[in-house]
Amino acid sequence: MARKSEDKIEDKLLEDKENEKKPITLEDLPGVGEATAEKLRENGYDDIMTLAVASPKDLADLSGIAEGAAIKIINAARKFADVGNFETGEEILKRRQEIIKLSTGSKNLDNLLGGGLESQSITEFFGEFGSGKTQIMLQLAVNATMPEDQGGFGSDVLIIDTENTFRPERVIQMARAKNLDPDETLRRIHVARAYNAHHQILLAEKAADIAKEFPIKLLIVDSLTSHFRSEYVGRGSLAERQQLLNKHMHDLLKFGTIFNAVIAVTNQVSANPAVFFGDPMTPIGGNIVGHTATFRIYLRKAKAGKRIARLIDSPYLPEGESVIMLTEDGITDGA
Ligand code: GTP
Ligand code: MG
Repeated sequence: MARKSEDKIEDKLLEDKENEKKPITLEDLPGVGEATAEKLRENGYDDIMTLAVASPKDLADLSGIAEGAAIKIINAARKFADVGNFETGEEILKRRQEIIKLSTGSKNLDNLLGGGLESQSITEFFGEFGSGKTQIMLQLAVNATMPEDQGGFGSDVLIIDTENTFRPERVIQMARAKNLDPDETLRRIHVARAYNAHHQILLAEKAADIAKEFPIKLLIVDSLTSHFRSEYVGRGSLAERQQLLNKHMHDLLKFGTIFNAVIAVTNQVSANPAVFFGDPMTPIGGNIVGHTATFRIYLRKAKAGKRIARLIDSPYLPEGESVIMLTEDGITDGA
């Protein structure tokens, strides 16, 4: 009797499995065999959605397939892709009304940002080594864990650490300065070390899984660009690098939108030989990073622990500067 009911359960499971909707893979697209699918994946076109929004020329150039074939693949992908629906202006307004803002620890810098870092956007801090990018990330992490009535989110935090610069000792100092329980603060900060660019991309994709378990309102990537910069060197790999960085940034933005979370990233600068006057430092990542980050802040070193933060390219805030201070207790106002 028992045997029989077990058989039945097994049959039922098998049936469910057969009826289960299989996800569409690249190989399901007409004209895409194993070899083409592999080429596409190698070049960052690893799902239907990425193909659906690709440009035929980029796809052809990057994957070495003919442009005519690329058009056919893209058209097929568009039929399968869940491209999403139009939203009414009212729905977008409602979503924007849910935006929450995170303090940097400096009132001056918060004011420059219109009240702090916004959820549903990417805020990028760029500057040379020692300009304070990592210190600001750690401060943001501590601030996000603070209770809401003290200006925090009372939330957990995810940090993707690509340079192995997360320091719990520093978090403890900053937490004590805010009268927080340091152990509790550390428990709320989840750090993943990313070993290379692909690992970093994977961790961002997995962030949503962790956000189902913990209330994550801040996702940090420190640094956004270092792996990409060191792994994709030279002109020949530039297109691929930009393609991957683009996908990565859109994954981050999607996370911010879905979970109403703040996304904070850091970026290095390189000397731009084309600039003869003024500051020749330009952020890494070119247009891709520049266009996807909603707020960009350039950090410059000044005397005695002071740093000048300059807001650049904001969609609706005026450009401006404020002075912050890197102290034992964390980020404070510099003047
Ligand atoms: P890279 O990652 O190398 O590009 O630099 P970064 O921009 O991340 O620099 P980071 O945030 O690591 O800044 C380092 C600076 O922060 C140091 O030069 C110090 O001025 C300051 N700093 C770090 N820890 C402390 C501290 O405990 N007390 C004080 N007063 N300052 C600190
Ligand atoms: Mg750093």
